[in-house]
Amino acid sequence: MPETTLTSVEYLRSDGVSVVVERRGDELPCILHWGRDLGELDERDLASFTAANRTVLGSDTLDEEPRVSLLPEASRGWFGRPGLRGHRGGRFFSPRFRVTGARRTDEAGSDRLTWLAHDEAAELELQLTLELAPSGLLRAQARVTNVGSSPFSLEALEIALPVPVDAGEILEHTGRHLLERQEQRSAFQPGTHLRESRRARGHDATMLLAAGTPGFSARAGEVWGVHVGWSGNTSVAAERVQPTGARVLTGGELLLAGECALSPGDAYSSPWLSAAHGDGTDALSARFHDFLRARPEHPRSPRMVLCNVWEAVYFDHDLPRLLELAERAAAVGVECFVLDDGWFAGRRDSTAGLGDWSVDRAVWPDGLWPLVERVHQLGMDFGLWFEPEMVNPDSELAREHPEWMLQPGDGRLPASSRSQQVLNLADAGAFAHVLEAMDALLTEYPVAHVKWDHNRDLAEAGDAATGRASVHAQTVAAYRLLDELRARHPTVEFESCAGGGGRADLGVMGRAERLWASDTIDALERVGIEAGTTMLLPPEMIGSHIGAARSHTTSRTHDLAFRGAQAVFGHLGIEWDLTKISDAETRELAEWVALYKRWRPLLHSGRVVHGDPIDDAVAIRGVVAHDRTEALFAVTQLRAGLSYPPGRFRIPGLDERRRYRVSLVYPANVVGPHKSNVEGWWQRETTLAGSILTTAGLHLPPQHPEHTVLVSLAS
Ligand code: GLA
Repeated sequence: MPETTLTSVEYLRSDGVSVVVERRGDELPCILHWGRDLGELDERDLASFTAANRTVLGSDTLDEEPRVSLLPEASRGWFGRPGLRGHRGGRFFSPRFRVTGARRTDEAGSDRLTWLAHDEAAELELQLTLELAPSGLLRAQARVTNVGSSPFSLEALEIALPVPVDAGEILEHTGRHLLERQEQRSAFQPGTHLRESRRARGHDATMLLAAGTPGFSARAGEVWGVHVGWSGNTSVAAERVQPTGARVLTGGELLLAGECALSPGDAYSSPWLSAAHGDGTDALSARFHDFLRARPEHPRSPRMVLCNVWEAVYFDHDLPRLLELAERAAAVGVECFVLDDGWFAGRRDSTAGLGDWSVDRAVWPDGLWPLVERVHQLGMDFGLWFEPEMVNPDSELAREHPEWMLQPGDGRLPASSRSQQVLNLADAGAFAHVLEAMDALLTEYPVAHVKWDHNRDLAEAGDAATGRASVHAQTVAAYRLLDELRARHPTVEFESCAGGGGRADLGVMGRAERLWASDTIDALERVGIEAGTTMLLPPEMIGSHIGAARSHTTSRTHDLAFRGAQAVFGHLGIEWDLTKISDAETRELAEWVALYKRWRPLLHSGRVVHGDPIDDAVAIRGVVAHDRTEALFAVTQLRAGLSYPPGRFRIPGLDERRRYRVSLVYPANVVGPHKSNVEGWWQRETTLAGSILTTAGLHLPPQHPEHTVLVSLAS
């Protein structure tokens, strides 16, 4: 590993992003610039940058120049939330670290800076890591070690990244079950804008906390965003702190009271904070997508069309019916048949059985074999649902080991949710029980896909024996369980589900090939949910299903054309009772599956782009090949808009120097609310210059609300 000695200014550059990091003397490093590329800079340029970059102090404030390091300290004049919060028996509440060593290394193509620092009085050692990946994604992590002889109570270890004063608007997500990742914006005001997640998952959690130039959009404005890659409790904040008005985005794990008492010699590492800058949110997201796609473990095989049986049969497991469903699924082109909840001991509804991971012989007298064998004969893979971190009090497991349920430690159980409690995986016995039971099933049956569910929030999650909060330990143990099963069964793919998209962070998604993005399959709701989800994850990781005509979660009714056009942009699945559909629907469904198979190489490798809305009645999303020779767009009329027909729309992401053949992929004929007086481009062969498409735009075909057309561009 090449190593160089760190000077006091480091300059990182990658894919249009520059980061300048300054360290004065032995102080912790501060980021002077993170954003657009600053071009070639030599030592003199950097030296004059740091010299000119002194904070001018206002009146009635500290005499020393305040410094906002990667881990901001009150001892350097920071009046925001300190990066490290904690104490040793009530003392040493305000650390002042001194850097003792630094190095710059190349970590698999990423430029990595590492600093070691020490606070002798507090008896703490700190390691700070900052790296810029080839995709321009910036990642940071802190690790603190207690080198004293008494325990140190750690309350928080949070990285801070500065954003400039023109980042005046905040974007984040909120939501609920069945409506995840809804965009929410506000002004970046003085003070602390704090988002905490205290449920260890959360349909309302933000995937990203971003700040940008006011009005920034998918294609315009500058934007900076951070994401905490952790599936436990988290905290992110946008802080604008006086007296200097400095703005930072911070993030880390939210530690519960007393949760992290570091014994002498113990260390705690913060989760990675991933951060991206972009001109527009599409460019920001592309840095996350490119980073994920560059991982060796990123799914590279074609994303198999799944059939998940949940909304077709729920808990009603009846072999003849499931066999018929499998046959229908194979006939429309499904490649993997996933048996959802309801197959294990005592699981006739959601009130019992969780934790008892053996096939229910009352329902499956010959085990799962009759179904698995038929699925294989039909040329499909087989998938199976688990909820490994959970237990129903009404289960053999809970009756034998009530102490394995997470609880506050005073003999009470937390409030029940979906009739279930959380299994304490940090307990060695509980961990081994689940690991061995799942391992046995994955060994006995040829399972290609595991849907890993997590259907309740962690509330009052403590260890029964110690009475201590245990969300951190639970999260570490859940990762260990997943890692161990992946190691033992390397060909199995995992799908992360938490009542839909309640757990979608890069901690779990570093261990899963697919996210079940939401329990709502309603295609209209999916437009917003998937727009939010693709801010972080590329489409090949986002499970997207074609459901019944009448949505089970909203009761809205949509044509198959609309449901299909939304679903093909993700990792396609079908979740619909195919035994009850008409021949015409079967034929049309098979066409959607074929269309997905035809387009998935592009959809799962290209650049995701969104049109800046003409008005909020039209949504446009597309995927453009990296060489920009090909693209597929979905143009959706969400509702009857004020501008109607919607007018001319600029196609994002194309190469202005190429010419593109523009065609309607689906439907073959546009069905609008009224006949057009002119012949639209979609009615004849049309080739247009990339510059015209991107700058002047293209008239959108008129459509009824809740309809989509798919448009292809080929050069
Ligand atoms: C959760 C999931 C669903 C389904 C059910 C089974 O709600 O999100 O897709 O698997 O559990 O109980």
